[in-house]
Amino acid sequence: MFDSTTRTVVVVGAQWGDEGKGKLVDVLAERADWVVRYQGGANAGHTVHIGDKSFILHQIPSGILHPGVRCAIGNGVVMDPETLFTEIDELIADGVDVEGRLYVSERAHLVMPYHKLVDKASAASKAIGTTGRGIGPAYEDKVARRGVRVLDLRNVERLRELVTLGVDRANAQLERSGSDVRASVDETMATLQALAPRLLGLAEDVGLCVHRAIKNGAAILLEGAQGSLLDIDHGTYPFVTSSNTTVGGAATGVGISPMALQSALGVVKAYTTRVGNGPLPTELEEPLQSHVRQLGHEFGATTGRPRRCGWFDGVVVRYAARVNGLTGLAITKLDVLDTLDELAVCTGYKVGNEVYTEFPADLSLLEKAEPVYEWFPGWKQSTQDARSLSDLPAAARAYLDRLESLCETPIAFVSVGTRRDQIIGVHATVA
Ligand code: GDP
Ligand code: IMO
Ligand code: MG
Repeated sequence: MFDSTTRTVVVVGAQWGDEGKGKLVDVLAERADWVVRYQGGANAGHTVHIGDKSFILHQIPSGILHPGVRCAIGNGVVMDPETLFTEIDELIADGVDVEGRLYVSERAHLVMPYHKLVDKASAASKAIGTTGRGIGPAYEDKVARRGVRVLDLRNVERLRELVTLGVDRANAQLERSGSDVRASVDETMATLQALAPRLLGLAEDVGLCVHRAIKNGAAILLEGAQGSLLDIDHGTYPFVTSSNTTVGGAATGVGISPMALQSALGVVKAYTTRVGNGPLPTELEEPLQSHVRQLGHEFGATTGRPRRCGWFDGVVVRYAARVNGLTGLAITKLDVLDTLDELAVCTGYKVGNEVYTEFPADLSLLEKAEPVYEWFPGWKQSTQDARSLSDLPAAARAYLDRLESLCETPIAFVSVGTRRDQIIGVHATVA
């Protein structure tokens, strides 16, 4: 992945999230000096399996499991300090050395307790099926220029002013939502002041640190959260998250120049999943959907909700390749398909007499879309021990070849299991 000329790499989800970004970042972090999260917040759930242990990272970059790698939470993230410290303490309890190598941008906005209350109570959040982690309300405050940033914890008077405005606004929203719950200024201040010394100890100008690291030739991994189809601009709006999940968001969310990005690895499952509401054109019929969900253990890492499952959607991933400028694909969970008799890949959407091969912006078209499928025979044998493409059954290779040509992006990695070693590096230098 990293070589003498490729030093700054973005890892991005190219479907609806949960593609296996955590696993890929963990694998690639072995050769990274820095891993930086650039957007989202504790809505993310990135799973990494090491030996018998499994770690689910929500806000801390997945590089933290490699000793010596520096990890940072960029300005584009909306950071929940309460859950950050729970996460840090759990890692420490598991023997992970976090001390002195985790940084938080002083420009990052805080997810306040009242953002979570509003997110959980709002009818709009329920309609979208949000994670309830306060992400939308925190980004709303950021864009409306009334948010609270990490650096505001340094000034208690200013903090109290911002919190008072935030609590008033949140309580009015809670009342309109019909909720009996109310936020309190004093309680919010007490929570923040208790966390402030610890959080300010991690606060840094992350953009400057990463800039200097780049100048010194460091290998930098920028870790995306969610997926391209959940991007606020490019996703299935309004069934999206509230940030730019795509590569465009990586530079602004870390605080470096877009010109510094040299490579973009798109992580995709060998099929498709989605948690929450909104279109999923290739969604499987029952009982096959439940069967695939069981095979892939498709239950949300953050909320435990069952994930909706569908066939691989080539229209979606080709679109994601375009908006992200993907230089390589990492196909994950190929092993989940090992026992299926046959597999389908969607190459277009039929609406009336027209076939769309470019992903449409208008959800009303997607609602009417009938996927056009190409069918492939299953390989009906385990791929979990494959460590090179030649170890894979011919039918699996044919399937992967079609994904590659359909998405117009070379495959750089194929993942065949949850463990670190269950991965095939294909054109490792391409990504
Ligand atoms: P992320 O949000 O993109 O990091 O993905 P999640 O961690 O939410 O979901 C991916 C799930 O698939 C996790 O439970 C991973 O351990 C698991 N996983 C990742 N790659 C593979 C793979 O190649 N095969 C199998 N069977 N599981 C995988
Ligand atoms: P990772 O990083 C899958 C979905 C929610 C909901 C929508 C908006 O693990 O891939 P939000 O709470 O962000 O306002 O919810 O986005 N969503 C995710 N789906 N993986 C995620 O993260 C997600 N983060 C948010 O289910 O549909
Ligand atoms: Mg996840």
